[in-house]
Amino acid sequence: MRLQRLVQRPRAVLYGVYLDDGSQLPRVLAKVRRGWPGDDGAERGGTRPRLASGSLPPSESTALEYAGLRAIETMFGGADPGFSVVRPLHHLVHEDTILMEYVDAPTLRDRLLAESRLSPQHVLSRHRSTEEAWWKAGAWLHRFQREMPRQELPARQPTRHDVVHQFLAYDEFLTTRLGRRALGDVARRGAALAEQLLPERLPSAVGHGDYAPRNMFLDRAGRLTVFDPMPRWVVPRHEDLSRLLVAIRLLGAQLHTRGAAYSRGGLDRRERAVIEGYRAEDRLWLPELRCHQLLITLDKWSAAVDSAPAGWRGRLRAASVEWASGFLRRESRRLLELIESDSARTT
Ligand SMILES: Nc1ncnc2c1ncn2[C@@H]1O[C@H](COP(=O)(O)OP(=O)(O)OP(=O)(O)O)[C@@H](O)[C@H]1O
Ligand SMILES: [Mg+2]
Repeated sequence: MRLQRLVQRPRAVLYGVYLDDGSQLPRVLAKVRRGWPGDDGAERGGTRPRLASGSLPPSESTALEYAGLRAIETMFGGADPGFSVVRPLHHLVHEDTILMEYVDAPTLRDRLLAESRLSPQHVLSRHRSTEEAWWKAGAWLHRFQREMPRQELPARQPTRHDVVHQFLAYDEFLTTRLGRRALGDVARRGAALAEQLLPERLPSAVGHGDYAPRNMFLDRAGRLTVFDPMPRWVVPRHEDLSRLLVAIRLLGAQLHTRGAAYSRGGLDRRERAVIEGYRAEDRLWLPELRCHQLLITLDKWSAAVDSAPAGWRGRLRAASVEWASGFLRRESRRLLELIESDSARTT
């Protein structure tokens, strides 16, 4: 048996476990968690408003992820040809380690990057095949939300008041850091629309924790496999769907080229596929979804603004944040217009 480090993250190292059986691929993946250097579980970074605060110690994150993988295996490990699972094999409690099946497939993020107009593979790629994958990502989430047991999980942002409050917190933070002109009125308008449109108590579900294309594999047979779960909270049910939609819109390449990497039409198509996949299972009122999408966009904007260090790196970063802010403001306005037009049409 041989171990090889495959991926290094600030809070985890992933090793491939190779068996001496002539296979070129690892048989097993070992994900070993570790804490932030000097972490005491308190808030990290600057003082920006966050949707979720406080990080968990590695032992708790590992146990939650293992439980999440097992629950996903129960839900999606059956005969449905559209989905597959990462089979969890063992939880090494004292080592904060999960052993799981190794999956030989690109992530949806890899696929999305290859489809960028700036990618050399773009010209070669004849694939416009991921729409079905995006549809599946919507359908997957709906089933997860319906079937995942809530147990005694704590709730995050359960009421309209919480969401309005959060919009105002982003407004204050971003105005202080960027100035009123750079932010405009997008966060305040978001607060007003949330106040007007959302129900007092928001429909909720267990959150995946990081429902993003980088946590989904798409194999050659077109099966979608969602991994890296952190089912720590009960959240507004539109939150994970919004995270996925925002991740599609705000890829780094798109931000840094202010929208040149992906065509608006292509992004709209992917977004519609996700929503239709989710909706195939249920009714969905779009203005409520768009409100959350705007909230998550402001959260990402705040994170980008907050991470500027001191010195020349900080100045460089500040310049790139200023550059990206124009794009984020446009994206926020697009969402506001969608909320206004959809709610005018459906109320
Ligand atoms: N079971 C697996 N088989 C093969 N590769 C895997 C597996 N699990 C994870 N990986 C690879 O390692 C990367 C990081 O894994 P994972 O998402 O679990 O870690 P993470 O620390 O949460 O990272 P991130 O913050 O990027 O989501 C994945 O994008 C994938 O490329
Ligand atoms: Mg991940």
